[in-house]
Amino acid sequence: MPTDPALPQGRAAHDVLGELRALRAKDAPTRGGRTFAYVYDPGLDGLDELAAEAYAAYASVNGLDMTVFPSVARLENDLVAAAVSLLGTPGAQGSFTSGGTESILLAVKTARDHARAVRGVTAPRLVLPSTAHAAFHKAAAYLGLETVVVPVDARTFRADAAATAAAVTEQTALVVASAPSYAHGVVDPVPEIAAAAAERGVLCHVDACIGGWLLPYLRRAGRQVPDFDLSVPGVTSLSVDLHKYGYSDKGASVVLYRDAGLRRHQYFAHAGWPGYPVVNPTVQGSKPAGLLAQAWAVQRHIGEDGYTALAERIAVSMDRLLTGLRAMDGVRVLGDPEASLVAFTPTGADGAPDASRMLHLADEMRERGWYLQPQLSFDGLPPNLHLTLTPATQGRVDALLGDLRTSLDAARAREPVTADPGLVRLAADLDPDALGSDEIAAVLAFAGLDGKDDGGGAVGLPRRMAPVLALLDALPRRLKERLLIEFVGSVFRV
Ligand SMILES: Cc1ncc(COP(=O)(O)O)c(C=O)c1O
Repeated sequence: MPTDPALPQGRAAHDVLGELRALRAKDAPTRGGRTFAYVYDPGLDGLDELAAEAYAAYASVNGLDMTVFPSVARLENDLVAAAVSLLGTPGAQGSFTSGGTESILLAVKTARDHARAVRGVTAPRLVLPSTAHAAFHKAAAYLGLETVVVPVDARTFRADAAATAAAVTEQTALVVASAPSYAHGVVDPVPEIAAAAAERGVLCHVDACIGGWLLPYLRRAGRQVPDFDLSVPGVTSLSVDLHKYGYSDKGASVVLYRDAGLRRHQYFAHAGWPGYPVVNPTVQGSKPAGLLAQAWAVQRHIGEDGYTALAERIAVSMDRLLTGLRAMDGVRVLGDPEASLVAFTPTGADGAPDASRMLHLADEMRERGWYLQPQLSFDGLPPNLHLTLTPATQGRVDALLGDLRTSLDAARAREPVTADPGLVRLAADLDPDALGSDEIAAVLAFAGLDGKDDGGGAVGLPRRMAPVLALLDALPRRLKERLLIEFVGSVFRV
């Protein structure tokens, strides 16, 4: 029986590229300072072209085997050496990875294997503040560690060093601190947490994925920055993403360890099969050397003074934005953000966070061409809007504040969005794992996540997300997670 071909007939290069460009035009802009999450725009002319050329020069090289492609080792050594000199301590070693999540996965694997080998730990645990990035929970789930989540201070949003120390036991493989946390942009008390871990012979990882390439340059630009890196006694590993404030394209991070002995637990070798002897320092086997090359080229092009100047631009924007937000009626900035991330929440007449207004505000801002990231309530911490500032924010702050004021008024004028209390009651009794596909489809449809596009975008999301997010915010966590998985499964429908 004839079957359909897997692919249509080949087309001319310009035709294929034209289609790609048309698809891309429907996405949020990654340049221009209006998208306040996911992307890092240094606002430097020619940098994108440099990164693309560097990638192209290495696009066909396989980073798997540095004995065949020795320049790969040279590029990685240069990048890791730069990270060691910025954030390390003499003798520190590391690896180039594909991103923050991979760096964190590797740091957790290293700690697990170290705890097993050196301390005889049999049921390894990961102690982390409630604000630690979700990637640590993913690592624990992948690698079979139990998580011990410690609530943060509800006023400063910083990790509670005493409570974290109290959570450490004989089975703890790793303790985590963030510099800064993604959600609120505050730096955890790293010296206290690392000292408490060291006292028990336990490793301590600093997640500087987002702040690691920015905080030292903010310090160089004259700003106060708390101690957070590998030079702090007791810190044994650290992650720093080059695809954030290093301004590389996506797929670039570094994980560092205090010494070679520790890094050895990260490596994997296998000589027990008939193929080539395998040694993989990181998760991937074959890996794109193009990402290494573009990160290397971008870093060398920007240089020390360049990064310092970019940090200064962020600091100036941050000051201006915080001053504007703090002067605005009906808005509260959460904590005392120390780097480039701001979380704020609209408040009601009683001064309490107003989730409904926050969700409307996000939609209103999107209508005006800005993407601010909604963060839902968690364990007593208020729901809020999150902004990641970049050098491209400079020059946009006044326009942003102006649109925020208009959008706040528009959000106030809208009917409050609340989740249907009947559905929330019903949901509380559902077992998310026992739900069949029909029931899941019904809940998704009710939540507005059934793929029916009202004109907002190609993945079937409604244009106004407030009702969807209000419902998600009210659902129990496990059900929320099941719905998210089913929704994304419906987007990647093949
Ligand atoms: C503090 C922190 N850790 C980890 C990550 C995960 O990084 P990635 O998205 O590169 O996997 C992020 C991403 O924003 C982050 O901000």
